[in-house]
Amino acid sequence: MPGVRGGVIRGRRGGLALALPLAAALVASGCGSKKPTGPVVSTAPGGDGWHRRVVFYQVFVRSFQDSDGDGIGDLAGLIDRLDYLAGLGVGALWLMPVYPSPLADSGYDVADYRGIHPDYGDLETFRLLLDEAHQRNLKVMLDLVVNHTSNQHPWFLESRQSSDNPKADWYVWADAPAGDCRESNVIFGSERWTLDEARGQYFFHEFLPAQPDLNFRDPAVLEEVRGMMGWWLEMGVDGFRADVPYQYVESWPDCWYQPETFAIHQQMRQTLDAYPGRAMVGEIQGKPEQVLAYLGNGSDAFHLVFYFDAMYALWGAGSGGDPTDLALAVQLAVDDTPPGGVVAYTLGNHDMFRTPRTVSEDVAALKIVATAQLTLPGAPFIYYGEEVGLLNGQEVVVDFRDQARTPMQWDGSGTAGFTKGTPWIAMADGVKTFNVAEEDRHRDSLLAHYRSLIALRNATPALQEGSYEAVAASPLGVLAFFRRHDAGDRLVVLHFGVEGDVIVEIPTPSGWATALTDEVTGQTSGEVRDGVWRATLPPRTGLVLAPAGP
Ligand code: BGC
Repeated sequence: MPGVRGGVIRGRRGGLALALPLAAALVASGCGSKKPTGPVVSTAPGGDGWHRRVVFYQVFVRSFQDSDGDGIGDLAGLIDRLDYLAGLGVGALWLMPVYPSPLADSGYDVADYRGIHPDYGDLETFRLLLDEAHQRNLKVMLDLVVNHTSNQHPWFLESRQSSDNPKADWYVWADAPAGDCRESNVIFGSERWTLDEARGQYFFHEFLPAQPDLNFRDPAVLEEVRGMMGWWLEMGVDGFRADVPYQYVESWPDCWYQPETFAIHQQMRQTLDAYPGRAMVGEIQGKPEQVLAYLGNGSDAFHLVFYFDAMYALWGAGSGGDPTDLALAVQLAVDDTPPGGVVAYTLGNHDMFRTPRTVSEDVAALKIVATAQLTLPGAPFIYYGEEVGLLNGQEVVVDFRDQARTPMQWDGSGTAGFTKGTPWIAMADGVKTFNVAEEDRHRDSLLAHYRSLIALRNATPALQEGSYEAVAASPLGVLAFFRRHDAGDRLVVLHFGVEGDVIVEIPTPSGWATALTDEVTGQTSGEVRDGVWRATLPPRTGLVLAPAGP
């Protein structure tokens, strides 16, 4: 099979020895049907390509650090924690919405695109945050929530006045519900049209009635949005995470993935490209081909797209031990990503449960999925608190997703160092165990693992930008791949298996005739004989191998 290196994995389960040629395992998992892979990334015009190298970190400001004792996280609190983030090794922050908002959807209902919610601070503090972050080499990306606004946004208040005011067409109005959506955003209810008494017409909303959809078919809307993006970019914001950009335009019953959306994203991209070194990541749900389409030709649409299929596959590999779905998802992305485009790997976010629920409460499982996320060919996005293993919370203030939005846990005190007041939402369980101070005391903690893996990635061009070459994906639990780069190749071997050791044999490239070092631990791993590396791997072990130094 071209591009797939031969090798053998033997598992010992209940005394039974299983032998599986790797190529066969790849065929069985579907990976073998794909052509060998070329470089995953290439240099796109505009900027130095930082978005292809850094580890991203998603922050819910409301829950990160409170500076004034009101129980609500704020920008000043985030500034106080920038040293922690720089020390963790991340290179870019995505801030969930910080704009003025009635918070019907935790800020995803924006009432003013050019301001800061008073709970979080003001524009002056935001400018300070930008400055302080940039001094520490941290990029700052804002959430771009323009599929809809809040129903309290002045545009909507004006639009609903009459059918002939200047903003009459800025939202999607109809005398009667004009159609339902085939797809549904289930947690927001089934109604998509709501009667507005003032205007005497129905308005369309993909989400809550408090989140009326903007009408991108009116060119003035995109013009205004691009102006607003430019305003933040001018200030120094490094880019955006675009909220549901595949839902901007509807042709009922098709409300998602309408071809018209592409032209909109291209124009947004042009706005970004006017400023060097900016990037935007699109939140696209869907099949891999639907998701990757939003990368356009690699340099005319989103710089990055979230790749949720891989997230589900990471959960599966981490919990059940079989990485074959993950291998398939990765290979699909590698084969079909346009040059210059990047897929983003997540383990969770503000819409998902916390990883101890989706993966496992076993720290070894959380470590192996983190190792995978940080070594696969794409951009890793860490959701705040994931690095210490935050558990789901119990209290619901807005909706059930609050379970994954509880305060960051900095120490083992009652409110975990998050606030001196009463937190806006009850802390999650496990504050005493899963917190930064406690995990900093243990060399084998999850946090220590994140720190060392991120440092390794930051120091290793092959892990950041190297091409990907599959070696093996076996239901016995092993996923192995090369990351290749002129600065030096790496062999990543991940044993997701939950029980039992496996014996792995992988032919090494010429020039790798000596012992191999696992760069995660700094220890020699296995042995190389006759051009084959051979090792016995306990369950949930991840290795990043390089030829041992002279
Ligand atoms: C965000 C959600 C939000 C929704 C509406 C999304 O996909 O991630 O948190 O509720 O868009 O803005």
